[in-house]
Amino acid sequence: MQLILLSAFGVGATAMPAQSLRGASERGQYDFSAAMLSPDPGTPGWLMERLFHGEPVWCPWQAPGSEPDDDCKERYQRIKGYRDAIATCEKPLRFTEKSIGHRGAALVAPEETIPSWQIGAASGAGYLECDVSVTKDLDFTCRHSNCDLQFTTDLIENHPDLNAKCSKPWVPGSGEEATCCTFDFTMKELSRLCSKMDSVINASADNYSTYLLGPAGFRTGTLAEKKCSPLVPYREYLRLLKRSGYNAIPELKDTWMNRTQDFLASKGTNIYKIADTFADMLVEEGFHPWPKPGEAELPSGTVKGIMQTFDHRIAAHWKTTRPNLSVEYMWETDQMDNEEGVLCYPSNGDLNGNVGGDCGGKLLIQKLVDLGVDLMAPAIPVLLASGPNRTVVPSRTAEFLKRLKVQHIGSWSLERQGCDAVSGVTPEVPGQLLAPCGSPDSFYYAPIENTSTFQHVDVLQVLDVLFRDVGLNSLFSDFPATVSMYVNCILEP
Ligand SMILES: *[C@@H]1O[C@H](CO)[C@@H](O)[C@H](O)[C@H]1NC(C)=O
Ligand SMILES: *[C@@H]1O[C@H](CO)[C@@H](O)[C@H](O)[C@H]1NC(C)=O
Ligand SMILES: *[C@@H]1O[C@H](CO)[C@@H](O)[C@H](O)[C@H]1NC(C)=O
Ligand SMILES: *[C@@H]1O[C@H](CO)[C@@H](O)[C@H](O)[C@H]1NC(C)=O
Ligand SMILES: *[C@@H]1O[C@H](CO)[C@@H](O)[C@H](O)[C@H]1NC(C)=O
Ligand SMILES: *[C@@H]1O[C@H](CO)[C@@H](O)[C@H](O)[C@H]1NC(C)=O
Repeated sequence: MQLILLSAFGVGATAMPAQSLRGASERGQYDFSAAMLSPDPGTPGWLMERLFHGEPVWCPWQAPGSEPDDDCKERYQRIKGYRDAIATCEKPLRFTEKSIGHRGAALVAPEETIPSWQIGAASGAGYLECDVSVTKDLDFTCRHSNCDLQFTTDLIENHPDLNAKCSKPWVPGSGEEATCCTFDFTMKELSRLCSKMDSVINASADNYSTYLLGPAGFRTGTLAEKKCSPLVPYREYLRLLKRSGYNAIPELKDTWMNRTQDFLASKGTNIYKIADTFADMLVEEGFHPWPKPGEAELPSGTVKGIMQTFDHRIAAHWKTTRPNLSVEYMWETDQMDNEEGVLCYPSNGDLNGNVGGDCGGKLLIQKLVDLGVDLMAPAIPVLLASGPNRTVVPSRTAEFLKRLKVQHIGSWSLERQGCDAVSGVTPEVPGQLLAPCGSPDSFYYAPIENTSTFQHVDVLQVLDVLFRDVGLNSLFSDFPATVSMYVNCILEP
């Protein structure tokens, strides 16, 4: 079998025989057992500190050239302290369980792939994520959404026969986006695909090869274009992490979506049955639950696993049927700093599977805490607010979670946003800065942008407030090196 690799911009095309791909077997199927994850060999702190040297620190509320006021002096002092700690840090990227690789290291590698987890591991992330999507033959593959194959793989570009089988195939020039779901295909069919960076698409393109425009400008697509990174079955992800000594944090995806539920019903199954299989596989492959508060740490060499969901029906199901296993509940909302009846984004279902219902309100969170859900994880902006003198402080929701005595608070996802929300999604604009950056269109830093955060270096203060004041257990990041470096050099030097 020949794998044709076209760059995301359709510039160069390289044909590469399958056997030249490391780990590929003669049949063109990837031999996952050859892959390993390895820790950082010893990147020094001074090198990491350079990440924050790109732009001078400034105080935009003051007129250029004016004498720094007290808030500005504090700001310089605070940032200098963080930078000095990093610059003199011996091993900024050593393994830490507080750092979680979001889809691996999705800022710089195609998400949910072996290179992505390898970079996550080399960045010090003690947990690596796989988003678990169901296939047509009721197996599981690592893919962020059940229906994102059209912009995270080469399906449209290189596989017209598979495009024809998509829930909604792409028709060149139609102007309508395709919908290609993992459950449209068997695991064998999915093994033909190469992963791409999460790409901007042109539904009006007139040719399959120009449907993908490439990743947003603040991400780096080079790795994705260099070689084929196949989709990874959930079980192979678990085995890779187990033999490499990394902890697993898989998420069962999209159980609240009608299209997923309809597919499962057509196969005579349902969201709870696949949630059972998902949990069984984690245990079968040798992952252990977290010790309960007050219990002894697990013996060294033991790998831990925590099951994630945005669907509180699934969180409740897992805790009811498998109370010993560890569960993370996440929610997504634009109601910041609000502890009552928090409404969901449409991507987040309520108790009855309806969109727009309560997904993070007091009663619901209390119920899940009572069931023993181990980790409660809203998005970063839900946990932060602007404090006096241009500082960042915990939000009311963060205080509410602390009062409820939830076992652990987590959050997501650092380094997932570029600075310009409009051109930020345009691949033609290269080399854009990472947020925070004072942008009024911010999602991840919305409550603090242009009040307490103004440029990327402020990510260090965001981390400091999340870990020290909110009391975060662990944090997802698209570039997990930032979290590892903060933890290893500033929080736990
Ligand atoms: C940021 O805040 C300043 C006031 O401190 C204001 O003048 C400016 O317009 C704001 N910028 C944005 C992008 O909202
Ligand atoms: C999308 O495709 C159409 C048709 O080929 C083309 O005219 C347009 O410039 C493309 N848009 C982008 C952003 O590449
Ligand atoms: C699509 O693009 C390829 C590569 O540029 C070209 O060879 C092919 O003729 C194009 N197909 C159509 C239908 O325009
Ligand atoms: C999902 O299905 C329910 C029940 O059939 C229906 O009421 C609801 O409108 C559907 N939601 C969407 C977004 O299609
Ligand atoms: C669950 O944990 C309890 C207490 O830690 C233990 O007694 C029990 O055997 C465990 N059950 C399973 C199935 O592991
Ligand atoms: C804010 O700064 C002013 C001036 O430096 C200071 O007097 C005040 O105490 C500060 N407020 C807080 C809450 O730190």
